[in-house]
Amino acid sequence: MPKPRIAAIVLAAGKGTRMKSRKPKVMHEIANRPMIGHVMAALKPLRCDPVVLVVAPEMEAVAQVAAPAQIVVQREQLGTGHAVMAARNALKSVGGDLLVLYGDTPFIATATLAAMLQRRHGGDNPAVVVLGFRPAEPGGYGRLLLDAAGGLDAIVEARDATPEQRAIGLCNSGVMALDAERMMPLLKELKNDNAKGEYYLTDLVALARARGWNAAVVEAPVEELMGINSRAELAAAEQAFQRRARAVAMEAGATLLDPESVYFSHDTHLGQDVMIGPHVYFGPGVTVENDVEIKGFCHIEGARIAAGARIGPFARLRPGAAIGPDVHIGNFVEVKNARLGPGAKANHLTYIGDAEIGGGTNIGAGTITVNYDGFSKSRTVIGANASIGSNTSLVAPVSIGAGAIVGAGSVITENVPADAMAIARGRQVNLTGRAQNFRERRKKTASKAKPTPKSGAKSGTKRKSGK
Ligand code: UD1
Ligand code: MG
Repeated sequence: MPKPRIAAIVLAAGKGTRMKSRKPKVMHEIANRPMIGHVMAALKPLRCDPVVLVVAPEMEAVAQVAAPAQIVVQREQLGTGHAVMAARNALKSVGGDLLVLYGDTPFIATATLAAMLQRRHGGDNPAVVVLGFRPAEPGGYGRLLLDAAGGLDAIVEARDATPEQRAIGLCNSGVMALDAERMMPLLKELKNDNAKGEYYLTDLVALARARGWNAAVVEAPVEELMGINSRAELAAAEQAFQRRARAVAMEAGATLLDPESVYFSHDTHLGQDVMIGPHVYFGPGVTVENDVEIKGFCHIEGARIAAGARIGPFARLRPGAAIGPDVHIGNFVEVKNARLGPGAKANHLTYIGDAEIGGGTNIGAGTITVNYDGFSKSRTVIGANASIGSNTSLVAPVSIGAGAIVGAGSVITENVPADAMAIARGRQVNLTGRAQNFRERRKKTASKAKPTPKSGAKSGTKRKSGK
């Protein structure tokens, strides 16, 4: 039997004035992914088609993040019901279920949406399923009015509710699953004769009931339905995400020495028996394989760290860092767009950018790949089992052959063949006895010159001896 089609509409045209931002609210990030990206990710496994995103004018930048969602611009924000109406052309061909979500509620879980769809196809064939939740402070949320049998009778907005209705703890999250065929035609019956003067999508419930159709409620935990309206709520959402990510990481077999101080991105992958020290930050695009140790105070983004590697403390891995198995990256080492082969080491004070380092090679303290001449970037290629002496500059483009040794303090501007030794620095000169001669000469000239009396020092001595 072919599965009934599912479409989705995500409402995101609200102005988000409380964010005090020049960018759309749903573009603000949680765990390095825009809010709207989280919503799209929750929808993805359900393979909705189409996914329509309703935005206000000048919010088209959202389209990039929400691709392949279809963007509909709602010219004026006249309410949630009006927002769905604005998308009616895009939804014309939708015959199955229509999920309605909000762009500023990023933690909605796929499983919850699936449960709503399942409820939609329950024996009593509800025309609409509403996702309810029980926030600690129901405040301004719409309240769900149930009938004696536990079915949904209506949704009343807080501003339009009686004191008795406001005492209800079960609230409307805004997420709905609609039987598109029955419910879409009812949109044009919505009126705006209410406290806000808006077309409320929530009024669809009462319209369905008036036709004798059922409406149902599915409940979800509060954490999934945190709405974000201000920077403070954004920070709270970030903290909620991080709490969960830390718990998931530990559950999956990573050790976090100080979980509260470790920050993950939405896409951080950790293997088993990964050890993470305090104050480690994972930007987007990081994969860490098994048995890796990341010591304290590392900043890692866009990097792949193979099994058994040891990173930090105080290391910075930037996009394109590919750290091979058993590699050691030590303190104050920065790696960008560079590959380090198995067992390579760069333990202290080094910059490796746009480079390829062979397995087993040792990069001495203070080595710098000089990759940028102010106009373009060039590559440094080092073979396996080479040894780069401390405080070396490798002026790219340059290559060092396998097994080569570069003397400390070198400025390497020419390729070094395999197994060669390269020394590129000023030659040392030892002048025997010259230091002693120098001192004696200086002493003589100094004693000839009359000492100028230092009044401050004298009185200081006096005071001291007088004690
Ligand atoms: C809405 C619900 C309320 C629910 C609450 C949950 C209605 C009438 N009320 O109220 O029952 O408890 O959400 O958070 O639906 N939007 C548009 N176009 C518009 C208006 C809104 O796209 O013209 C979008 C907003 O960007 C937002 C969502 O719809 O993502 C909700 O709008 P909002 O104004 O926040 O509704 P609430 O008053 O909070
Ligand atoms: Mg709201």
